[in-house]
Amino acid sequence: MSSIPWWKTAVFYQIYPRSFQDSNGDGIGDIPGIIARLDYLRDLGVDAFWISPHYPSPRVDDGYDIADFYNVHPDYGTLEDFQRLVDEAHARGIRVLADLVLNHTSDQHPWFQASRRRQDPYTDWYVWSDTNDRYRNARIIFLDTESSNWAWDDVRKQYYWHRFYTQQPDLNYDNPQVQEEMLNVVRFWLDLGLDGYRMDAVPYLFEREGTNCESLPETHAYLKRVRREVEATYPDAVLLCEANQPLDDLRAYFGGDPADPSVPGDELHMGFHFALMPRLFMAIKRGERTPIVDILRRTPPIPANCQWCTFLRNHDELTLEMVTPEERAWMWDQYAPEPRMRLNLGIRRRLAPLLDNDHRTIELMHALIFALPGSPIIYYGDEIGMGDNIWLPDRNGVRTPMQWDDSPNAGFSTAATLPTPVIDDPIYGYRRVNVAAQQADPDSLWHRLRRMIRIYKALPALALGDLAFLEDQPPAVLAFRRHWEGDTILAYHNLSDRPQTIFLPPGQDAMSGQTLSAGDYRLPPYAYLWLRATG
Ligand code: BGC
Repeated sequence: MSSIPWWKTAVFYQIYPRSFQDSNGDGIGDIPGIIARLDYLRDLGVDAFWISPHYPSPRVDDGYDIADFYNVHPDYGTLEDFQRLVDEAHARGIRVLADLVLNHTSDQHPWFQASRRRQDPYTDWYVWSDTNDRYRNARIIFLDTESSNWAWDDVRKQYYWHRFYTQQPDLNYDNPQVQEEMLNVVRFWLDLGLDGYRMDAVPYLFEREGTNCESLPETHAYLKRVRREVEATYPDAVLLCEANQPLDDLRAYFGGDPADPSVPGDELHMGFHFALMPRLFMAIKRGERTPIVDILRRTPPIPANCQWCTFLRNHDELTLEMVTPEERAWMWDQYAPEPRMRLNLGIRRRLAPLLDNDHRTIELMHALIFALPGSPIIYYGDEIGMGDNIWLPDRNGVRTPMQWDDSPNAGFSTAATLPTPVIDDPIYGYRRVNVAAQQADPDSLWHRLRRMIRIYKALPALALGDLAFLEDQPPAVLAFRRHWEGDTILAYHNLSDRPQTIFLPPGQDAMSGQTLSAGDYRLPPYAYLWLRATG
């Protein structure tokens, strides 16, 4: 297996630095806090974590508005702390990914401040215009807050282009200096030992009149260049694509030849499977497999040197941009009945509340992202079924402090008050839902997911194997075969609240080690079985 890149078989974890662990009592999570919790990640069994933006930022977009790409937000620590984080993670066999926000900066970034004053060399580092009617075909992404992708700048007396918040001006990638500088940023953190990047919002780098300004050929060409530069110097590093795009457009971010998957990918190594995610929620609510089977049938093959990243939730709203308007209305109806639960074209809720706090379905949904093609990523707190706080603005409700134990502030911080309060309701509150309690209970969700991670690692076919659906099953059962190097795993998942009878070949239950003979098998509601075929 030595030629297989580490990220193809890895289990990932997403950390929101502000909310993971506060080490100095200021109420804000920080890097020394993450370091203090590395043993936790090792015990859980994850191979790598992605840390959301750690850079200096006025935090209009919670760190995705970066004011200095070469430093650490003072609330989070110092560059030395970051170096220590990488070293300490590596000492435990854990890899570290950071967010790379290529598309835009904060309006407080010195580059933008110089650009608006037409100070060289920054004059053309952003997308300026005398009018606000260019690129009319580009959609607005933050629909709830923004009415235009242009904003007027009173200093420069021109409009500037921004795909996200007004305070996040887009960089001008037609300027070669910008292209060079962002490559310097890429190298800077990899030189510290970072293992890769989650490539934020990559579809929007270039703008061209008459297009929707997404996934343009120029954007792909630049990303290929980033890949080349990374590969030349840091061959182990991984670039994970965040492109919330239709399937064919998403496929393009792996590079290679879309018509021929045997041609190796030459763009980004991994990509979040944005089309699969909402279909997992549809399937479990409907209690039948069709949405998942359909989307995977429609998913184009990707080159062998690439990998999907499968996920359930993250720090953003559960996006419904990639479903039809009818499906979106249905999803909102089912999963976000109250207007406060909705944001832009999505749902701002966490996994456990979406699944009515049913630990069977939370485990089952994780089983799906583990067993389907792609490397899974767990969103911090979902491993214990943390809740959300829909009364907090924007996406803050799904970014609340990690619930470590039942002490004040959930063991997250010793501060008297917290900028983002800990969840303290009767169902999801930290007194009930916390790591310590679940670690003490061998049957808890935490232990179940920990076991799942261990079993997953013992079944490389789940990470690397090909996929064939097993159709002769009840509609509520999603069953498929994964095969890799002589190892065959049959994975059965009951998506419904009723027991289902399936027919099994002889094999071994991978979870319990129990030998099962051929014949009928009763799969309890929301249960799954990963069977190592022996027949
Ligand atoms: C991130 C968001 C962020 C946006 C702009 C995204 O896709 O996940 O949290 O607001 O990029 O940077």
